[in-house]
Amino acid sequence: MVKICCIGAGYVGGPTMAVIAFKCPAIEVAVVDIAFARIAAWNSDQLPIYEPGLEDIVKQCRGKNLFFSTEVEKHVSEADIIFVSVNTPTKTRGLGAGKAADLTYWESAARMIADVSKNDKIVVEKSTVPVKTAEAIEKILMHNSKGVKYQILSNPEFLAEGTAIEDLFNPDRVLIGGRDTPDGQKAIQALKEVYAQWVPKDRIICTNLWSAELSKLAANAFLAQRISSVNAMSALCEATGADVTQVSHAVGKDTRIGPKFLNASVGFGGSCFQKDILNLVYICECNGLQEVASYWKQVIRVNDYQKNRFVNRVVSSMFNTVSGKKIAILGFAFKKDTGDTRETPAIDVCKGLLGDNAHLSIYDPQVTEDQIRKDLSMNKFDWDNPIHLQPMSPTVIKHLNVVWDVYEATKGAHGLCLLTEWDEFKTLNFKRIYDNMEKPAFVFDGRNTVNVQKLRDIGFIVYSIGKPLDGWLKDMPAVA
Ligand code: NAD
Ligand code: UDX
Repeated sequence: MVKICCIGAGYVGGPTMAVIAFKCPAIEVAVVDIAFARIAAWNSDQLPIYEPGLEDIVKQCRGKNLFFSTEVEKHVSEADIIFVSVNTPTKTRGLGAGKAADLTYWESAARMIADVSKNDKIVVEKSTVPVKTAEAIEKILMHNSKGVKYQILSNPEFLAEGTAIEDLFNPDRVLIGGRDTPDGQKAIQALKEVYAQWVPKDRIICTNLWSAELSKLAANAFLAQRISSVNAMSALCEATGADVTQVSHAVGKDTRIGPKFLNASVGFGGSCFQKDILNLVYICECNGLQEVASYWKQVIRVNDYQKNRFVNRVVSSMFNTVSGKKIAILGFAFKKDTGDTRETPAIDVCKGLLGDNAHLSIYDPQVTEDQIRKDLSMNKFDWDNPIHLQPMSPTVIKHLNVVWDVYEATKGAHGLCLLTEWDEFKTLNFKRIYDNMEKPAFVFDGRNTVNVQKLRDIGFIVYSIGKPLDGWLKDMPAVA
């Protein structure tokens, strides 16, 4: 029986290994982590992450050929294939701070592998890493090996949160990079056989190590670039009376462009896009490619602009002040069908409104109050460094309310901001919401989720990203 061990039981390690175990009953999969609470949650009825379809698979495999454990060294030493799926956040201090990937967790995992391994291993980079990381890992392993041989493979993960299981069951492609040596090719073949249990062979792409590493950063940069492009257009739509939904529909009909990933929004969030683009920018700068670096940096700038623009629109529409006004925030997660809040645009929007002295009432079906309070206390990039938590100011504590019901969140509010496209927001009783709000009642839709005309008919003043502006909003000062 082939034994797989995955270091890192997070958003990638957990679902990916659950699917491998589910699809390959002849493989024993151990997912290990140093975070005791996380492993305890994986072994409980309350999994540590919310992902549609995940619970079912875990329940079917757990205890049979899928194990979650904190005995990291034991499982690593027993495994034939070791996936490393630890976090690779943006560095918050030192050389490259604010851009470069922090490989501390990766390096410590590699050193531990070298320490405990007694037989030859295939080590698979599952985390997203800077191009050429495999070379560094190889050096650490080789210089510390006690006669053990290692093959390093790059096998980046392309799943998106909220659709992780669907993406893993039916991936557009699986990418495996390895050395062009007989042993390297043998290792690629071994990993290919695992995926070939359920992925059609023509969707398993094999490349050299550096292409695989770089393709992951490139894919995320291309995806984020599309969102920033349509978001940049949304600003122009608002200025001209064009409708961004109509524009992206027309643009996406060109088969060379395609319709996906063209939804204008309050900005992209999530743990990957910003981090990976900043990392790409840093790599370009290190290679003396300033023009290329500034091209990709602009994708982040437009994203920050979009979030600021949204906050400015809220404040300027409401007579240029939200001081003391209750504003309901509907949705805090960075997208629907996940409880993940890493880099969610809601953080910037809430901080912007709190900065203008608004009183917020926040509702999200999957995010806890504790998480929201933590997120609003953290500095940029600090979600992976909880020790840097700043105490929340007493004013912010007083002005922040987290509730478990949309109607309570919106009761007595002057405005509501819709920041995550949860399906349940499509069927809200907006008449009831309107009746219980202060007048004029404002809706600011950051996800193009509501039916603008219906809401205007009820009496709301509605702003929806990139849509023709309400007469009211046109009369308000321009938003930069
Ligand atoms: P995560 O923070 O959810 O999980 C990482 C886990 O690794 C944590 O539980 C942490 O405790 C554990 N860990 C860290 N160092 C360890 C060590 N030395 N030994 C054992 N466990 C250790 O992160 P994630 O979202 O799963 O992302 C992991 C990697 O995958 C990142 O490089 C990320 O860029 C990449 N990725 C993420 C996604 C996504 O949607 N989240 C998608 C594709 C790729
Ligand atoms: C992304 C990549 O899609 C995935 O391939 C990679 O493995 C990890 O990073 P994820 O961040 O989980 O996945 O979700 P994704 O669906 O890409 O959404 C990212 C952000 O972009 C979200 O905030 C989402 O709301 C936003 N988005 C997405 C838009 O604003 N408009 C769109 O058209 C699509």
